[in-house]
This record gives sequence, C-alpha cells and structure tokens, in this order.
Amino acid sequence: MQSGSAWALQPLAEMTEDEFNDWQSLLETRSGMVVSEQRRMFLQVNLTARMRELGVSDYSSYYQKVTDGACGAVEWVVLLDRLAVQETQFFRHAASFEVVTDFLVNKIANDQTGKPLSLWSVGCSSGEEVWSLAICAAEAIRTANKNKSVEFGVIATDISHSALRKGRQAKYDPKRLDRVPVELLERYFTMQSDGLYRVVDRLVKRSCFTRLNMLDLAHAPIFGMDVIFCQNVLIYFRRWQRREILNRLVARLAPGGMLVIGVGEVAGWQHPDLEPVADERVLAFTRKG
Ligand SMILES: C[S@@+](CC[C@H](N)C(=O)[O-])C[C@H]1O[C@@H](n2cnc3c(N)ncnc32)[C@H](O)[C@@H]1O
Repeated sequence: MQSGSAWALQPLAEMTEDEFNDWQSLLETRSGMVVSEQRRMFLQVNLTARMRELGVSDYSSYYQKVTDGACGAVEWVVLLDRLAVQETQFFRHAASFEVVTDFLVNKIANDQTGKPLSLWSVGCSSGEEVWSLAICAAEAIRTANKNKSVEFGVIATDISHSALRKGRQAKYDPKRLDRVPVELLERYFTMQSDGLYRVVDRLVKRSCFTRLNMLDLAHAPIFGMDVIFCQNVLIYFRRWQRREILNRLVARLAPGGMLVIGVGEVAGWQHPDLEPVADERVLAFTRKG
C-alpha cells in the first residue's frame, strides 16, 4: 500500500478491457445501471477517487473488495452513491406535476370510497420529487375543497441510502427552491435558524422513504397506487429492462391510477391495461377499469 500523498500524484490508472467488462457487468447486474464506453472515464475517475481513499492501487483489487461478502456489501453501498447520478429538482418537469394535480382534483371530486390517496416516487433521489408530489396532493385537496377530509401518503424509494437520508431530512438550501412558487414556499416550507428551508411536518408525516432497488420490484409489497411517478431513472437502464420495470409498475397501479414517466424515456412501449393521457407535454398513462 502506498502513502496517500504518493497515490494522489499518480495519474489515473489505465483500465484493461477485462477490468472494464467486469465493472460494467457488476454494475448492471446489481443496479441495472449501464456504463457505456462514453462513461468509461466517469467510471475510472470515481473508482480511482474511492480507491485512493482506501489506499487500493488497482481496479482488480478494488473489485475483489467490493464483491467480498459482508464487507463488500458495505463498500458497495458507498460506491453506488458515487456512481449513481442523483441530480434532481423540485417540480423538475412542471407539466407532469400539473397533470398529476389535475388528475388528483378530479379523483377527489368523484371519489365515493374515502380511501386515502397513494402516491409513489420511484428513484426519488434526495426527496425533491417526493415533496413536489406531496404538494400536488395537498393542493389538489385544497382545490377540490370538499367538506370531508382527504388523506394521502407518498412512498419514496431509491437504491441509494445517502439520497434517502437527505430526503428524510426534508431540508433544502434556498437555492434549490427556485422552482417552487412563492405561494407554495410559504405554505409548505419553514425557514430554519440555519438558513435552510424545511418541509412542513404535515407533509413530512405523510411520507415514507425506503430503500428499493428497481431490479427487485417483483418482490416489493407496494400495490394499489393512485399515482406512480418515475422520471429520469429508466434512462440508465437497457431498453428491455425499462419495459420490464414499467410492466411491474403497471401491476402496482390501482384501477384508474396514473403512471407518469419522463418524456422520451421509453419509445414505443404499450401496455394492454393502460390508456395514454391525452396531453402531448407529458408521457403518462392511466390504468383502465
Ligand atoms: C437522476 S436521479 C432522478 C431523481 C428524480 N426522479 C428526478 O427526476 O428528479 C436518479 C435516481 O435513481 C436512483 N437509482 C438508480 N438506479 C436505481 C435502481 N436500480 N433502483 C432504484 N433507484 C435507482 C439513483 O440513486 C438516483 O437517486
């Protein structure tokens, strides 16, 4: 093992074709993430940075470490956080959230069951999408203005522990809130003494952040969702894998429930139980029945 400073002066280690193939298949098998040839440098830079922290000098030794039993499982969690793209924003694709709000207003207005609304953010990252959905639900309830109270809950799932931790904290730098209209900022956030904005408790207590690898959807005990929101995640998966994931999500929609995907994230996918939402700004479907 070399000293940290000697290592830091080394150029990025070359990755052999075999090493690249091993890392590619490990990442794809475990997370679905496809590392294309174009992202090889991204992989090398991030692996090297982590290897330097650990004093490991070659990719094969680090591979052994990551795949070695229980200790490997812990290291895998750390590595995944470095490699998964976690970029997100509040109301990232505004039209999709508008469509969700209208759908919920309509659902509340016509509901005879009194069942709470269930929403799910799949690949939720640090929570911005989750709170955007919670705000849509809260606003829909205000708009529907029914005398009886309507309950709702938002499930938030991601593969990354650190992303989930941030989401649960529900605290954000004001710079991250520039897409939130002032009226909603005042209604659903409180400014804290540390200068961060925190989501109000009445939304936080309606959320549940939990780890779920989308490759394990078949075993997820989540059903009867009114809204499933899955954006900017499928792009990292192979085409056949995207379709398989979407088919699994459809099975988790309540009859009449809505699935919202990122525009352009799946081409030509159809499902016999779904009807497309007639709004060309979004890629969304409702479940028949
Ligand atoms: C680019 S972020 C998108 C966040 C949010 N959906 C949005 O549109 O702003 C992608 C998220 O997907 C998560 N992710 C990647 N692979 C995953 C998998 N196999 N299972 C669950 N989440 C995954 C990442 O950890 C990351 O938080």
